[in-house]
Amino acid sequence: MIDELRTPPGEAALVLASSLGAADPLAAAAALRRHGVPADLAAAALTQAELRRRAVAKFGPDAARMFFTRAGLEQATRVPVADRRAARLSAAGVRSVADLGCGIGADTLAFARAGIRVLAVEADPPTASVAAANAAVLGLAGLVEVRCADARAADLSGVDAVFCDPARRRGTGRVFDPRAWSPSWDFVAALPGRVPATVLKLAPGTDHALIPAGAEAEWVSVDGDVVEAAFWCGPLAEVPRRASLLPSRAVLTGSGVVAAPVGPVRRYLFDPDGAVVRAHLVAEFAATVDGTLADPQIAYVYSDAPAATPFARRYEVLDVLPFSVKRLRAVLRERGTGRLTVKKRGSPVDPDQLRTAMRLSGTAEATVVLTRVAGAPTALLVEPG
Ligand SMILES: C[S@@+](CC[C@H](N)C(=O)[O-])C[C@H]1O[C@@H](n2cnc3c(N)ncnc32)[C@H](O)[C@@H]1O
Repeated sequence: MIDELRTPPGEAALVLASSLGAADPLAAAAALRRHGVPADLAAAALTQAELRRRAVAKFGPDAARMFFTRAGLEQATRVPVADRRAARLSAAGVRSVADLGCGIGADTLAFARAGIRVLAVEADPPTASVAAANAAVLGLAGLVEVRCADARAADLSGVDAVFCDPARRRGTGRVFDPRAWSPSWDFVAALPGRVPATVLKLAPGTDHALIPAGAEAEWVSVDGDVVEAAFWCGPLAEVPRRASLLPSRAVLTGSGVVAAPVGPVRRYLFDPDGAVVRAHLVAEFAATVDGTLADPQIAYVYSDAPAATPFARRYEVLDVLPFSVKRLRAVLRERGTGRLTVKKRGSPVDPDQLRTAMRLSGTAEATVVLTRVAGAPTALLVEPG
């Protein structure tokens, strides 16, 4: 259908579909039919217009010219993350890369934008067509060869580097077993043995046990949400672990195996960014704020000074209470609390149930952190800032 949408009648249908807005799909379909657009082209144009609207969050203004499949958009890397990766490969001297399982081409396009030649391999024919169309509409076709083929059969002899972002979804669900990824982990894990300069993009929750020997494992967050893990293999590895935060571009590196010192609750609580926690860099972060943990298993860092840091949200600790619903209710009532924000790490308590149990009635706002201090369930009253 992508080919039809790129013909003059298809483009006209798409322009019309985009101008109709998302509010009433039935009225939009009727309007397209009134303009003489055949039913199947009208449906394709409306779907594409809707995907373009949704794609703005990942692709910015380019989304208005690009093509998408629903699954391809869901799995696509967002532009700032893909551009960062491409810039790093380019800085490492990579001039050509094979993108194995390129999807709709988000990473492929970023590599090409960075001036890297791309062999983009995609097994699903409609998705491969979309990747090729995207390279064309963004003026990058000269650097991109899209091949509709099984990545497992790709000839990698002519490329400087390999990038692989295996599919980790089937239908609507996520696939957690690496053997069920596509291509499967056996194939993916063998890639650095074939082309040393290999980058693997994986889910944020990927087990550290999968990190190839000697590889750098990076976790990336955008606006505090961890969006991916990336394993940089062979000559691309610079440090054992890295946490990269966007849009600030703050980077924390370390070994990933150091334990942070443990001490009492102190005046300021720091809640580290998820990328720092996933990369096992809490000790490295704690050192930057002269901080300690209050429990060896819980990734909250405490310090006496209100250090400014891009790596964590900071709270001032106002009160420390052994956790008890009754006790907390009494303290919140005393403070006239009507609105309660609940944060937690290391506590089984359900925040909604807790809020109900507090029977809040005042006008003040409060934030409570449910956690453990030296193994003991504890509630901290805190103030964000
Ligand atoms: C996670 S998506 C890639 C997303 C891409 N990096 C992006 O940002 O747009 C994985 C893709 O791999 C494709 N794929 C799965 N198994 C494959 C195989 N054996 N050969 C080629 N492509 C494959 C899927 O069809 C899917 O489009």
